[in-house]
Amino acid sequence: MTEKIETFEEKIPEIVLNSGHKMPVVGLGCATHPLPPTEQLVSIFIDAMENGYRHFDTAKLYGTEEALGKAVAKALEIGLIKSRDELFITSKLWSTDADHDLVLPALKQTLGKLGLEYLDLYLIHWPVRIKHGTQMVNFTKDDILPFDIHGTWKAMEECSKLGLTKSIGLSNFTCAKISKLLEIATIPPAVNQVEMNVGWQQRKLVPFCKEKGIRMCAWSPLGAYGTSWGTNAVMENPILKEIAASKSNTVSQVALRWIYQQGASVIVKSFNKERMKQNIQIFDWELTEEEMDRILQIPQRRMWRGEAYVHPTGLYKSEEELWDGEI
Ligand SMILES: NC(=O)c1ccc[n+]([C@@H]2O[C@H](COP(=O)([O-])OP(=O)(O)OC[C@H]3O[C@@H](n4cnc5c(N)ncnc54)[C@H](OP(=O)(O)O)[C@@H]3O)[C@@H](O)[C@H]2O)c1
Repeated sequence: MTEKIETFEEKIPEIVLNSGHKMPVVGLGCATHPLPPTEQLVSIFIDAMENGYRHFDTAKLYGTEEALGKAVAKALEIGLIKSRDELFITSKLWSTDADHDLVLPALKQTLGKLGLEYLDLYLIHWPVRIKHGTQMVNFTKDDILPFDIHGTWKAMEECSKLGLTKSIGLSNFTCAKISKLLEIATIPPAVNQVEMNVGWQQRKLVPFCKEKGIRMCAWSPLGAYGTSWGTNAVMENPILKEIAASKSNTVSQVALRWIYQQGASVIVKSFNKERMKQNIQIFDWELTEEEMDRILQIPQRRMWRGEAYVHPTGLYKSEEELWDGEI
């Protein structure tokens, strides 16, 4: 469990997406608040690469694209990686750009910030469109516009055909919204990145995505422990604590391994060297059937309910509507 990581291939397995491209099953989350200075972020991302991380999850919203790009350039310069192809970089289309004609310029802007020629994965961040030009999260109900899934997805497909991103996908989409998308998609989404952890197990979405060949990626796999948007429901769960103690693992490792055993990928954020290491030591042991059954008993509650997108006169009139009843 504590041996030095020789190569990331040994430690972080990869899966093949429906696009034919490989993705390491654990990625480092690059969202944090407040944002550390760029140089500190660069050094954190380098630490992560030294520890074996090759998959990084950023977004226009997070404000970390530039620092991640600088870290990639530095990793190449110091020989930590030989080629950019060794990395898997995800970014996301923010809702103010969720319109057919704005997708390509938004992706080009993201690539410019990262200093890269292509992304590995570009996701629609939310099934929501916000008036272009609105300050990222400072929007009112009048700024929320009808979401044109057809036009937005067609533009994502064009980005893929131009070679600007190897795979395209979704984030925060329900079974119902994915079904609608699949009716018009000529390139199916490779990934759906959603809140998923032992406290919100996504019991409907997991089998649905599996059946459709879409890879689930879990965000807030530790319940965003210790953050302003987080919950203690994962890291302080008594069942997880007992399982962890009985196996000499940490609670975070049990929480992450559970996701892996569901056939999903993990996007976990730690900017602390020791915890980064700990979070990828989940591949040489497993949870038993009995332990998996115990985890099934954990009460379920969605942490991030998307209240900001819900208004009595808006596109989604209730949380039920936003999540198509999957709440
Ligand atoms: N698509 C979306 O809409 C969406 C939404 C939210 C998040 N995401 C992505 O998913 C990533 C992960 O989600 P998240 O950051 O919300 O939550 P998370 O990964 O579940 O939790 C992060 C928190 O847990 C702490 N932590 C990490 N490892 C730990 C360990 N071993 N023991 C104790 N505490 C630990 C971190 O602190 P330290 O850094 O101090 O270790 C941080 O406070 C984000 O960074 C982002 O890339 C996507």
